[in-house]
Amino acid sequence: MIVLGIESSCDETGVGLVSEGVLLGDALASSMDAHARFGGVVPEVAARAHLESMLPVLHEALGKASLGLGDVDAVAVTAGPGLSTAVQVGLASAKALAFALGKPLYGVHHLAGHAAVDVLEHGPLPSCCVALVVSGGHTSLLLLGDLGKDPIVHLGDTVDDAAGEAFDKVARVLGLGYPGGPVVDRVARDGDPHAIAFPRALSRPSDPAYGFSFSGVKTAVARWVEARVDAGGEVPVADVAASFQEAVADVLTRKALAACREHGVDTLLLVGGVAANSRVRALAEERCAAAGIELRVPPIRLCTDNGAMIAAVGDLLVRAGAPASGLDLGADPSAPL
Ligand code: KG4
Ligand code: ZN
Repeated sequence: MIVLGIESSCDETGVGLVSEGVLLGDALASSMDAHARFGGVVPEVAARAHLESMLPVLHEALGKASLGLGDVDAVAVTAGPGLSTAVQVGLASAKALAFALGKPLYGVHHLAGHAAVDVLEHGPLPSCCVALVVSGGHTSLLLLGDLGKDPIVHLGDTVDDAAGEAFDKVARVLGLGYPGGPVVDRVARDGDPHAIAFPRALSRPSDPAYGFSFSGVKTAVARWVEARVDAGGEVPVADVAASFQEAVADVLTRKALAACREHGVDTLLLVGGVAANSRVRALAEERCAAAGIELRVPPIRLCTDNGAMIAAVGDLLVRAGAPASGLDLGADPSAPL
């Protein structure tokens, strides 16, 4: 069974082909550059870019896998959450393919895709694990059972900004450009992570154990920089970047480890664009090693949005005998898991 997966929930147009847990080929186009001057993703610009890229990306993925459309046995597509108009482009493409090929269609939750993608790199997941999905759009802790069969339990989410969004906004405050994560990461290497004590929100015992909040730390950075400029001082950009990054990495990894401990789970999945962050990875490795927990991080190109992750979920659903979606499947920008 060969499953074709389509992803279009944000600014990446992705197509992947997966069979029995093996990635056969995938391709990706990004409209990130078109959003740079706005400092964030503009939904209409993203949707138009998906329309332009969908067919070339589809053909590129099929070419890499040395397959034709006639080889496809099922079509999986991100049905949400995401930018509504962007999701619609992927959905319309997937429905057209499923209808024309006479093959089943599977609507996939975007976060399930982020969690499932590691299967393509490191093989089947254990029957229970915790996933920290941390990107520009999400910061979620998930409890996974048997993917494709058991429902995914949402343990917690951010109440405001996603961690990646905070990286992007802090980069803007520091004049480092967009997307901010990679450049903050790079600049932070020359800074002191303990130079400034930025807040770790929702860290008191009375706070929701798996809730996150990054709008406070972002504002704290902006105020600190403003005060330094007003006082006529130089802004120590590397120290600010390193201290901010440390605060985010500390909260993310502490809560993820606490979730593993509470649920008696010995595998942690770290996925999403922010999994590329060197400090988040290092701290996760250090804390997992100390707690005897196995850390699984897919390669970065699979951590960020892509079509292979949606095909990976479709492949699990097909193999689990899950019911297909109807051709009336709608986009659900805030779909629950
Ligand atoms: O998963 P992704 O490609 O897209 C979604 O948001 O779904 O994640 C993109 C986010 C951006 O906010 C970007 O700044 C962040 O991931 N990011 C990083 C790093 N690389 C990408 N954040 C921190 N450190 C990085 N090295
Ligand atoms: Zn994503």
